[in-house]
Parts: sequence; structure tokens; C-alpha cells
Amino acid sequence: MQGIAGRVAIITGGASGIGAGLVRIFAEAGARVVSADIAAEAGAAIAARHGCDFVPTDLRRDADVRALVAAAVARHGGIDFLINAAASYADEGLETDRETWRAGVDANLIGHVMLVQAALEHLKRSTWPSIVNFTSESAHVGLAGRWVYPATKAAIEQVTRSEALDLAPFGIRANAVMPGWTEKPWQATAPAEVQERYRTMSDRLHMLGRQGTIEEVGQAVLFLCSEHAGFVTGSIMRVDGGHSALGPQGKEKHLPTKVRQAAGLGTTNA
Ligand SMILES: NC(=O)c1ccc[n+]([C@@H]2O[C@H](COP(=O)([O-])OP(=O)(O)OC[C@H]3O[C@@H](n4cnc5c(N)ncnc54)[C@H](O)[C@@H]3O)[C@@H](O)[C@H]2O)c1
Repeated sequence: MQGIAGRVAIITGGASGIGAGLVRIFAEAGARVVSADIAAEAGAAIAARHGCDFVPTDLRRDADVRALVAAAVARHGGIDFLINAAASYADEGLETDRETWRAGVDANLIGHVMLVQAALEHLKRSTWPSIVNFTSESAHVGLAGRWVYPATKAAIEQVTRSEALDLAPFGIRANAVMPGWTEKPWQATAPAEVQERYRTMSDRLHMLGRQGTIEEVGQAVLFLCSEHAGFVTGSIMRVDGGHSALGPQGKEKHLPTKVRQAAGLGTTNA
């Protein structure tokens, strides 16, 4: 995609899942990638596999955030893309204690904002600066037993809009991607009944009848950073196979009609 090759991308959450996929996808597209994650061993191994740099980073620590920015600038001379895939899922719902709440908000929300602050002068100097955050369908619906993660995702959506507005004068675009259920690498080797359960649920929950792939999510992020997305900012891009556009009846035909038909009452109210 146009505008990726040669540009410098900081990717948080690069040790696992979608973030690890993004490290590969951006590296293959010719970006100079600096991956960051709290999981140092896995993050370093993945970055090395794709010829990228890795900086062990706990987004809850300002010193780590500053060191990440300094390392990217020292190595590559600037920063063009900030891609924020890291996420903490620590969440006990209603029972979540204050410390866990603070840690979740710190990692998923405040850490990202501190990174934007630390990288801002470099983004301003970039010829094609872009921020991409990650949200989730859980930002919009109630999820049994999960309070922290969805709240941080709702907040990052709002911060994305604030970033888009306040950073627009500097030519910095800010968007978020909302993946649906995305395949995890471990699923391929999971027991057959687990795989079958995922298949059945994915079919029911997505218009397209399946989970998304890390590749599909990554290509959306690539697009948002590319020169093809020059007029795209402040947007939440759904990459969810139609999951969030499905109503409560899912893919079932109009239920009241089915009920009436079953009772021999015809198909309309007329
Ligand atoms: N996988 C999905 O189906 C899905 C669906 C909707 C949204 N998302 C979003 O996509 C993004 C990636 O999701 P994933 O499932 O691939 O996640 P993941 O759990 O596989 O990876 C998240 C990474 O963030 C890192 N991390 C956690 N706390 C950190 C901290 N304090 N500092 C630095 N790194 C930290 C973890 O070590 C991990 O490597 C997340 O933002 C998530 O909210 C994922």
C-alpha cells in the first residue's frame, strides 16, 4: 500500500495476537518497525523474526514510554505511525478492586495518551503521521462479568476523536479499528471440540459466518496509515464481518412472523 515503505511505525502489543501480526505485516510492507510490549521475551523474538526493533515497555510507566520514543528516534530519526494494539484484559467485573481498575485504565488508556504526548513533536515533523488505536464491540454493549476492559475501549474511542480533532492542525490523522472475533494462533492446535464451538458461535454471530483473521485486521490498519486514507480521521473502522450490525435476532428470519406462521395466523398483521 502506498505510503508505508520506509516510514517508522511504533507498534505496541507486538508480542502477541494482532500486535504480533501487525509487526509482520508492516515489516513486509517495508515499514521500519519498533515493536513494544511488556512481554519482553516473546516481543523480542517476534521482532527479530521480522527484522524489526523491540523495546521492552510497560505502558503504565512514563520512563518506559519515554525510552520507547527515544529508542525509535535514535534508531530511525523520527516517528510516523503510532499503532496502539496493547491491551490488558485483567477484569473481575463488579468485583474488580481499585488496584486492578487502575492498572487496566493505565495500560489501555493512559499509557497510550502518554505515548502520544511523548511522540508528539516527532509526529508533527513527520510528512505522513498517523495514529491507529484499537477498540472493541464490547465498548458498546453490556458484557457479563467484564467491566474494566469494555470501559477502557469506550474511552479509547472517545480519545481517538479528541486526538483527531486536536491533532488535525498538525496533519496528524487518528482512527481506531474495531475487530470482531479474530482468530488466535492457538486456535489452530486447540482440541477439535473447542474448534467446533468457535466455528458454530462464529457462524451465528457474524454476517460472514466466521471469525476474522489477523491478516484482515492488519490490512485495515495498513490502509489507515497509508496515503490511500488521506481524508480518513476520527473514524472507527469496523473489521468484524458484520458482527456489530447484526440485530438481536442474529441471522434468523423475522421472528414475530415465524411465531405467527407457527400459530397458523398468516404472515402479516393485515
Ligand atoms: N482478538 C480479538 O478478537 C479482538 C477483538 C476486539 C478488539 N481487540 C483489540 O485488539 C488489540 C489486540 O488484541 P489481541 O487479542 O491480539 O491481544 P493480546 O492479548 O494477544 O495482546 C495484547 C498485548 O498487549 C500487551 N500488554 C498488556 N499490558 C501491557 C502494558 N502495560 N504495556 C505494554 N504491553 C502490554 C500484552 O503483553 C500482549 O502482548 C487489543 O487492543 C484488543 O482490545 C481484539
